[in-house]
Amino acid sequence: MSSWRPGDRRPDRASMLRVDQAGEYGATRIYAGQLAVLRRNCAEAKLVARMAAQEERHLNRFNQLMAERRVRPTALQPLWNVAGYALGAATALMSEKAALACTDAVETEIDRHYSQQLDELGADDPELAADIAEFRADELEHRDSARANGAAEAVGYPLLTAAIRAGCRAAIELSKRI
Ligand SMILES: [Fe+2]
Ligand SMILES: [Fe+2]
Repeated sequence: MSSWRPGDRRPDRASMLRVDQAGEYGATRIYAGQLAVLRRNCAEAKLVARMAAQEERHLNRFNQLMAERRVRPTALQPLWNVAGYALGAATALMSEKAALACTDAVETEIDRHYSQQLDELGADDPELAADIAEFRADELEHRDSARANGAAEAVGYPLLTAAIRAGCRAAIELSKRI
């Protein structure tokens, strides 16, 4: 159900698209950083490679929508390039399980974010809502695979995931505005 009521501001769909594209871009950078560090052909690398391919598909779709709708990307793209890659590489350097804990944390926030957007959109933009709903299902699957493969066994899991989740929330708020 839409949370929009007459008199409320309509959802800013350009801003939504901008933050979503930034998020998917960041996700591709996180997984690229992890794949650069993880041992080739270990179970975690195979899982990450599969998820990375889906992030690529999500990103391409948002790139296409942005071009069609003439929405500019976030000015913070260069920052997400470096920060995403660094987060991915750093967690993979800690351990394979820490890499999965990173996915667990990131996808938890992305799920929250996409759910919020779907609620805000209501019936306003069925095209965008359908993509978000589909991608959200993929992100939940990523989170669940990370958990099923032992994300919580990472040393310092509660602190690590809390820090990454806070970082994601900050990145989301910044990408909406800048
Ligand atoms: Fe994604
Ligand atoms: Fe994902």
